[in-house]
Amino acid sequence: MIGMFDSGLGGLSVWRELTAQLPDEPVIYLADQGYCPYGGRSDDELIARAELIADYLLAQSATLLLIACNTATSAAARHLRLKYPTLPIVGMEPAIKPAALSTQSGKIGVLATQATLRGEKFRQLAAQLHDHAEIYSQAGTGFVELVESGELDSDNARRTVGAALAPLLAHNVDHVVLGCTHYPFLAPLIREQLPPHIDIIDPTDAVVRQTLRLLQHHQCRSGPQTPPQYRFVTTGDDHSMQQFLRQILQRDDRVETLLPA
Ligand code: SIN
Repeated sequence: MIGMFDSGLGGLSVWRELTAQLPDEPVIYLADQGYCPYGGRSDDELIARAELIADYLLAQSATLLLIACNTATSAAARHLRLKYPTLPIVGMEPAIKPAALSTQSGKIGVLATQATLRGEKFRQLAAQLHDHAEIYSQAGTGFVELVESGELDSDNARRTVGAALAPLLAHNVDHVVLGCTHYPFLAPLIREQLPPHIDIIDPTDAVVRQTLRLLQHHQCRSGPQTPPQYRFVTTGDDHSMQQFLRQILQRDDRVETLLPA
């Protein structure tokens, strides 16, 4: 069984792709909505949350942990790998490498949370790729809040997206990397406001492929199960998650509530 978590509902963009590619494996998804957003929190806080959640998911029989959150990956993946040395763990990648290797203008933009952008992982990667591209980073201010409230197609959402894209457009970037799992839900609005020659790089597919590889390598699948068993758990408001599942993913699952510790 795959155990996955995010600060909230953004990781459902990964859940959607994962379950489309692997439809018969049970998955438990935990949305840490009681602590969302993660983007402004310290690494210590995020490590403590990640540890608590990993323990919970393991107690629910997860055999692989998927950190469907760039901010939590950046702050806590290394710590979790040390703490659970035999557990296969997949984290989100800031997909700047493919963008930096294929840019024509030599300029790429990265949208992510403040915490991801100041994280060691991002800074190291950016330094390594410095010879290939100038990398312009931009916090997607307000994006997480829009997705959490299911506001994916409003004038306010358009304005919020436009404000974050403007500095990247001014730098003439030809790739925009989505460095937060919430952002693919806003991809239609992002696409709408970018000229067609600018590519949007979404790392979801690469992360799903890595998950499939690790499942096979560690032989830790519990499937096949028909119908697949999916559980949705939140540390926040179960109604908002249920509404999101209904409206955005057309699913009618019950959402369980886990009181934040
Ligand atoms: C957030 O909670 O601020 C976003 C988490 C992410 O980076 O996916």
